[in-house]
Amino acid sequence: MEKIKFAVVGAGHIGKRHATMVQQNPESELVALIDINEALRTEIESTFKVPFFTSFEAFLKSGIKCEVINVATPNYLHASQSIMALEHGCHVVCEKPMALTKADAEEILFKGLQAHKLVFCVMQNRYSPPSEWLKSVVSSGALGKIFMVQINCYWNRDERYYKKGGWKGLVEQDGGTLFTQFSHFIDIMFWLFGDIQNIQGKFKDFNHQDLTDFEDSGFVSFDFKKGGMGSINFSTSVWDKNLESSITIIAENGSIKVGGQYMDKVEYCHIKDYQMPELAPSNPPNDYGAYKGSAANHHYIIENVVDTLRGRNIATTNALEGLKVVEMIENIYKLKNTLKG
Ligand SMILES: NC(=O)c1ccc[n+]([C@@H]2O[C@H](COP(=O)([O-])OP(=O)(O)OC[C@H]3O[C@@H](n4cnc5c(N)ncnc54)[C@H](O)[C@@H]3O)[C@@H](O)[C@H]2O)c1
Repeated sequence: MEKIKFAVVGAGHIGKRHATMVQQNPESELVALIDINEALRTEIESTFKVPFFTSFEAFLKSGIKCEVINVATPNYLHASQSIMALEHGCHVVCEKPMALTKADAEEILFKGLQAHKLVFCVMQNRYSPPSEWLKSVVSSGALGKIFMVQINCYWNRDERYYKKGGWKGLVEQDGGTLFTQFSHFIDIMFWLFGDIQNIQGKFKDFNHQDLTDFEDSGFVSFDFKKGGMGSINFSTSVWDKNLESSITIIAENGSIKVGGQYMDKVEYCHIKDYQMPELAPSNPPNDYGAYKGSAANHHYIIENVVDTLRGRNIATTNALEGLKVVEMIENIYKLKNTLKG
């Protein structure tokens, strides 16, 4: 059977991982990499041995056959490049966040429906064994009524991460810490407990005045539409290194806490008439040195795209789910003006 042809736009930290994962999957093939940074050409051509383009438009005009385009550029480009890829007749794998506004995410969804093409959103934390286990426990109803869900995301992002001249830290290009750092955990919460309402919050900038356009910390609380209340407490002001990303669930029939840097360690589980199963170990995170890292599950994303296009599975995170996460963050940010001063 012919391999599924992928191209990756954006050859930075995560774009290279997409390219590697595509080349490692036996049923997929990398046909091109695109990045506006000409300085990457030699490295890309020698590592991946595929054509390198410095403009997305030039690649689309090249005539190179391609079925899937992975969008791994800065956040503000996800919507326009996903739409261009769909208009070109390709399926899209869109890095998180899907867009920086709900309106842009809707445009992607609309174009995908119109073009009969799929949009896969990259929320690879869903594949970690603790996340899969949480999903199965919550879906089984073993917890009974959900009372409280608390998400704590306390990470370090300092001058080693926010470099002058980059897109990270700019409100129009990055969007804010909930979009860039913590959207994975908002996705997990939405996946487990659904949509939120009655949002309240307070935000504070402790030590990013010279690094970002937006605040580094917040306490946000809300009600789940399905019942129970929740909160997200987040900060990138932590000194030196990431502390944790955790979820604590207090429910009628039991309590759970999953912690670690990426919600990747079950720290507590006590549920009525329930025996916690042995979980497979979580993958060690990607390590980008000072850049920090991310949960290392991107190979599952490519596997899921291949399986879905071959009719063996369904998309793990579909476009509507990607949109809901954007909408939730937008609604949280509506509480304040993210621009300082
Ligand atoms: N899923 C995850 O865990 C995860 C982890 C890290 C980053 N990301 C997401 O991936 C995206 C990229 O992040 P990164 O850390 O790799 O950033 P990066 O800055 O390392 O890479 C972005 C690349 O895009 C290129 N680029 C900029 N404008 C372009 C354009 N118009 N056309 C083509 N290329 C262009 C840049 O030259 C750069 O090489 C972001 O949206 C980020 O949120 C996701």
